[in-house]
Amino acid sequence: ATMLLITIDGPAGAGKTTVSKLLAEKLGYRYLDTGALYRAVAVAAQFAGVSAEDDQRLDQLCANLRIHMAADRLFLDGEDVTERLRSPEITMLASAVSARPVVRSALFGIQREIGRSAGVVAEGRDMGTVVFPEADVKFFLDASVRQRAQRRFGQYSDKGQSLAVIEKDIRRRDENDSQRDIAPLKPAADALTIDSSSMTAGQVVDLMMSHVLPLL
Ligand code: C5P
Repeated sequence: ATMLLITIDGPAGAGKTTVSKLLAEKLGYRYLDTGALYRAVAVAAQFAGVSAEDDQRLDQLCANLRIHMAADRLFLDGEDVTERLRSPEITMLASAVSARPVVRSALFGIQREIGRSAGVVAEGRDMGTVVFPEADVKFFLDASVRQRAQRRFGQYSDKGQSLAVIEKDIRRRDENDSQRDIAPLKPAADALTIDSSSMTAGQVVDLMMSHVLPLL
């Protein structure tokens, strides 16, 4: 069977992770979570006390980065840091370090390497535009800010963040991600945009499958 490279880009909270995992599972493909890589750099920066403005030390940090992704776990220098990746501080720091060219170019190679294996669903902000411009199918998954905040609130209500705070964080991240000079968040010219505001994850996956199946 043909093994495709499928990209799913979009803003925070649009449901990319859920949908990407489901799609990869359906197709028997590998799932590549590139947000986790930026989050890993943020964790490494926090461990080392390196600020997101310090390009020189970020460069050093990235040069020595040993990231290993296995199933649903992420290891940094052999240590399982999966539980740290989703905290609000790391989330904002990941957004900040991801605007630095030194970080993006360091992660570019890692992503390309993983993308070479056959059959991949790659999730992120610049998969279809920068990292995998040659992808076979490109999706841009969007949803209203309110809807995205509400979904996050549902996922993280145990962490004690209010809906208003989550919505503010999402707006700030949207702004960071789409205003930055390098690899800003935007749909690739040849991407199919899906607004998931009033769709379930299952419906989104079905719609995606209807575009993928004819290519298999
Ligand atoms: O998708 P996720 O929320 O885990 O991504 C964390 C952060 O990493 C995002 O806010 C974004 O700034 C950055 N990111 C990126 N490019 C990607 C994936 C994530 O800049 N391909």
